[in-house]
Amino acid sequence: MAVRERAEDTVRCEGLVQVYGTLGQEVTALRGIDLTVPAGDTVALLGPSGAGKSTLLWLLAGLLKPTAGRLEVCGRRVNDLNRRSAADLRLHDVGVVLQNPGRNLLANETAAGNVMFAQRPAHPGRAASRRRTDELLEAMGLGRVAHRQAGRLSGGEQQRLAVAVALANRPQLLLADEPTSQLDRTSASTVIDLIRSANESEGTTVVMVTHDPVVGNSLRRTITIRDGRVGAEGQAGQEYLVVSRDGSVQLPSEVLETTLPPGTLIRAVPTADGVQLHRARPEEDERA
Ligand SMILES: Nc1ncnc2c1ncn2[C@@H]1O[C@H](COP(=O)(O)OP(=O)(O)OP(=O)(O)O)[C@@H](O)[C@H]1O
Ligand SMILES: [Mg+2]
Repeated sequence: MAVRERAEDTVRCEGLVQVYGTLGQEVTALRGIDLTVPAGDTVALLGPSGAGKSTLLWLLAGLLKPTAGRLEVCGRRVNDLNRRSAADLRLHDVGVVLQNPGRNLLANETAAGNVMFAQRPAHPGRAASRRRTDELLEAMGLGRVAHRQAGRLSGGEQQRLAVAVALANRPQLLLADEPTSQLDRTSASTVIDLIRSANESEGTTVVMVTHDPVVGNSLRRTITIRDGRVGAEGQAGQEYLVVSRDGSVQLPSEVLETTLPPGTLIRAVPTADGVQLHRARPEEDERA
């Protein structure tokens, strides 16, 4: 099979908007996401429930079309893909682990059969495919249940199997939605180790939703989504606010709850390397 050229940036989102529902009953899940993930990077998506994390993952996987904005994944414009090309993207280039582990698997197929099936698009040959299957199932601690039907595995086993299936074809991009939510600390570490090793040995780019700070900190960047926007980004133990394209910044919740509650009038005073925010004095704020 021809080797596809890898794009410099695996993910590029510009002003990504997602609105669900029909006229009069719309839910705006994403309100303009700008995000670039260079090839080989590892990103944890954090944020409260309902913030839009799964929605963003579905868009990156080509499972949904954005309402507005530009989206490029593995060098392809997802906006322009028809269903078939989007499926092709997932078969060849993008491994996906959805939030509900059962949805990632063929329930009537065995665990080993699921991993074999995922490799078919690359035509690796039966022996190579079996070797990879054994290797992945062993690494996930699933050797014992290799011949059990996926639908009969426990939630945690299904979750580990889903990660093995998503990585089976050595994807350029792994998208995983809370892949460790049903796992104990030891199994969670096994999953993270396998994902990191795919990143290190194959250069797989990783975007993973997680609520677990230990998992989040094991990746290079953290992106916090709040209310459908990129609110903050963490790198090397530092947390930064992100200025969005309309100039808005999401203040941390502790600031909103204490010094600058919503509606506060503030002055932005430029300094040598940034800006200071000052609350208006009572005489400036006529409403006070
Ligand atoms: N198919 C849908 N139809 C209508 N609204 C939806 C749909 N899917 C998600 N939403 C809404 O979009 C918003 C974002 O949902 P999303 O599932 O992306 O959040 P999340 O950050 O993944 O949350 P969680 O941490 O609970 O999984 C929520 O308000 C949700 O109710
Ligand atoms: Mg979710």
